[in-house]
Amino acid sequence: MAIERTFSILKPDATRRNLTGKINAVFEENGLRIVAQKRIHMTETQAKKFYEVHAARPFYGELVSFMTSGPVVVQVLEGENAVAKNRELMGATNPANADAGTIRKMFAESIEANSVHGSDSAENAAIEIAYFFAGSEIVG
Ligand code: PPS
Repeated sequence: MAIERTFSILKPDATRRNLTGKINAVFEENGLRIVAQKRIHMTETQAKKFYEVHAARPFYGELVSFMTSGPVVVQVLEGENAVAKNRELMGATNPANADAGTIRKMFAESIEANSVHGSDSAENAAIEIAYFFAGSEIVG
């Protein structure tokens, strides 16, 4: 199986509740290695550009405002089928629909404060990783 990388964000609701260690433990216990990680406060400009694909959706303004409401942890996760594996570990966008044992089922507060972001394809992962990390910051 292919070793690949995906991009992950621990969202402001997760940092606010000191959940970064617990969520990272889920990644590590399931074969994903954290090969880059930093805690940042996203600017409005950064968040707007990152979520540009959702600009026409009714929740875009709220999403940008939530993602800039506190610190986040941006990460690169590496492992076999990392993109799909991370999406599986995260669970459904709305925690009400997430399977038992997933990060969102265990930790998310709402469809907005849903604790984690994960890339939805290898192609987007490469774009999202390059948006937040220089190559020299990723240590595999
Ligand atoms: S996906 O994967 O694009 O199909 O997911 P999607 O459901 O379209 O959601 C895209 C991102 O928008 C967030 N979201 C919301 N934020 C605020 N309010 C509402 N109602 C809402 N619905 C979806 C969702 O958490 C996704 O954020 P990321 O960071 O990509 O996970």
